Amino acid sequence: MSPFKNLIAATAILLMLSARTSGDSTSPPPHQARIAELLARMSLQEKIGQLNMRGGGQPMDVNPGMRDQNLNELLGEIRSGAVGSLLGANGADYINKLQRCAVEESPHKIPLLVGNDVIHGFRTIFPIPLGEAATFQPELIERAATVAAREARAAGTNWTFAPMIDVCRDARWGRIAETAGEDHYLGALMAAARVRGFQGDRVDAPDRVLACGKHYVAYGAPEGGRDYNTVDVSMQTLHEVHLATFHTAVRAGVASMMTSFNEINGVPASGNEYVMRTVLRGDWAFGGFVVSDYNAIPEMILHGYAADRADAAAKALRAGVDIDMCGFAYRDELAGLVASGRVSEKLIDESVNRVLRAKASLGLFESPYSDSSLEKRTLLAAEHRALARDIARRSMVLLKNNKELLPLPKSIKRLALIGPLIDSRRDPLGTWACYGEDQNVVTVRAGLAAALPQTEILTARGCDVRGESPFGVDEAVVAANAAEAVVLVLGESEDMSGEGHSRASIELPAPQLALAKSLFDTGKPCVVVLLTGRPLAIPTLAESAGAILCAWHPGTECGHAIADVLLGDFNPAGRLPATFPRATGQIPIHYNHKNTGRPPTADRYTSKYIDVAWTPQYSFGFGLSYTTFAYSDLRVEPATVDADGSIRISVNVANTGRRDGEEVVQVYFRDPIASRTRPVRQLCAFERVAIAVGQSKCVEFSISADLFAFYNWDMKRVVEPGEIELYVGGNPADGLKTSVQVIDAIAR
Ligand code: BGC
Repeated sequence: MSPFKNLIAATAILLMLSARTSGDSTSPPPHQARIAELLARMSLQEKIGQLNMRGGGQPMDVNPGMRDQNLNELLGEIRSGAVGSLLGANGADYINKLQRCAVEESPHKIPLLVGNDVIHGFRTIFPIPLGEAATFQPELIERAATVAAREARAAGTNWTFAPMIDVCRDARWGRIAETAGEDHYLGALMAAARVRGFQGDRVDAPDRVLACGKHYVAYGAPEGGRDYNTVDVSMQTLHEVHLATFHTAVRAGVASMMTSFNEINGVPASGNEYVMRTVLRGDWAFGGFVVSDYNAIPEMILHGYAADRADAAAKALRAGVDIDMCGFAYRDELAGLVASGRVSEKLIDESVNRVLRAKASLGLFESPYSDSSLEKRTLLAAEHRALARDIARRSMVLLKNNKELLPLPKSIKRLALIGPLIDSRRDPLGTWACYGEDQNVVTVRAGLAAALPQTEILTARGCDVRGESPFGVDEAVVAANAAEAVVLVLGESEDMSGEGHSRASIELPAPQLALAKSLFDTGKPCVVVLLTGRPLAIPTLAESAGAILCAWHPGTECGHAIADVLLGDFNPAGRLPATFPRATGQIPIHYNHKNTGRPPTADRYTSKYIDVAWTPQYSFGFGLSYTTFAYSDLRVEPATVDADGSIRISVNVANTGRRDGEEVVQVYFRDPIASRTRPVRQLCAFERVAIAVGQSKCVEFSISADLFAFYNWDMKRVVEPGEIELYVGGNPADGLKTSVQVIDAIAR
């Protein structure tokens, strides 16, 4: 590894991400003359059409007459210029047909934006984003996004509603699956990586798509973990945590942003002038366009923020939403609002200008069509699957490995493979795998069978994923007793996480728990593999399983990747991007909490529970390996640093076990005394390094003191003078300690 390779990771989220697309507001907008000329020719209705997104999916009605009628209706709207963008259209031929209607038959021949939720792959499905984050390898996730963009664009999509960059500290929320977890530093690096992967250097290349940072903002902090629920956060936390990933995405050149469904401190995101005009367009100089979430503009009526659809449309446009996603408030109300003087046409022109610029940046005016032969060659290409397998195994987190039960020996004669998910094809794809196909998924059974051709695999389902009670425990126990070891696959079906799928209890469903207990009672060595879309509360497994591997929802290559890890062809090194609590009632629980005036001790009157330990089951940053690592020689220089300077940290990491392996070296800091209290730990650098058995590596980081900044009581972003403690190790709980003195304060 080259010295100070982490310069990019540690200091340059803020400095080195150059803007490259229509999000770039520092260079003169390209194609401006053509756009100005076009805008001058457009009627008000046609301009409003550019701000209207409607569903564009292939009509599915069984009745062919109905189907044709629906398609004709869609084509009619496109032809009249009433639609600027589509949601959910798929397939090069179909999209070409719609595009042809727009560019040959609509009044000003303006091509369509075609948006889709390409969240963790298009046809080749990668692990859910929470799993991707567990790799702690942003550069790899950039490659996954590149593959997703290549497949999506080949199939006609030119805009993805990704990356999803909400920060979430509440595993009840179903959409934690789509996030990079609880930490905004890790989330910011993942956000930038995905933006680069989707958009590349030139978004008009035939294998790139516009990215969309969503959901702006603080959608990941709903009260009670309930989707769409109220968000009430301090302005400091809003800026330090929730806005941070979006700011990084803007610096990386993200072309668009999507508003969130929630309100922020009383003002719904889609009508929130502060977050859109003051912060996004003002402070950050974002030059791209903003789309509302689905129907979010009229929903401001139910929020109690808009009187009616016209009021909602006016408030959204004034606040800075350019495109109305399927709410049709712009389509129906904007002309009247202009006529009555409540909305100025100039505001509409500004929004249309941004939308047209995005279309021009994609090269759509010159080449609006996709090549359908490319689609066939691109989707699910062998190298895409190979990358999906590699990322899936890199995402897996070894949570427990008693007496080195894993890896299992390939010489095993009889293995029991048990659980409700062993043959599932849909569930391993996870949430938002819209264009992933079940038939391409390698099941857990198929993966293990391929890797163990000489082994007899005895299978039993045991129970349903959910449901009342287990139905096949006896059969499962018979299989376990006849085998040398058990692989028990438990967790969540794909519909137990994702949008609108929050859970009030994140414990294992009762039938699965009963099945697990019966198998533990057999005394057979038992490895639990968790397929899950979120952290789970698994105290019984943590206590009684021989080994636990968290595999998330790993995507198309599920079975192969799991076999690679279980059998030792790949030594796991994934780390948790979100904390696993011991019980749902501990939520919110996250590693970067505050200390309180009474941090937990054995004393009664300290900050803890009477019925459950206060510590997490498995913390953010935690993950085991089949080998062990030892840290030594931690150095920091210089010993004092200006607030606008940077420090260098180096540490020696030795592989002290019996296998080659990878270690995620993590650097945390703590500001022990500040004018506003700071978290007990904050991640500020990491690197996943490969170290051969018996070898050691000097791992070096350069960390900008700007990362120690926070918002003070007066909402000034400050780096205060004083000691900063630094911790370097394999997770936030332990590690070597040093410190540095910040000698000069700054406030911005
Ligand atoms: C989701 C968005 C998604 C949109 C379009 C909404 O319900 O919140 O994340 O991009 O639908 O599918």
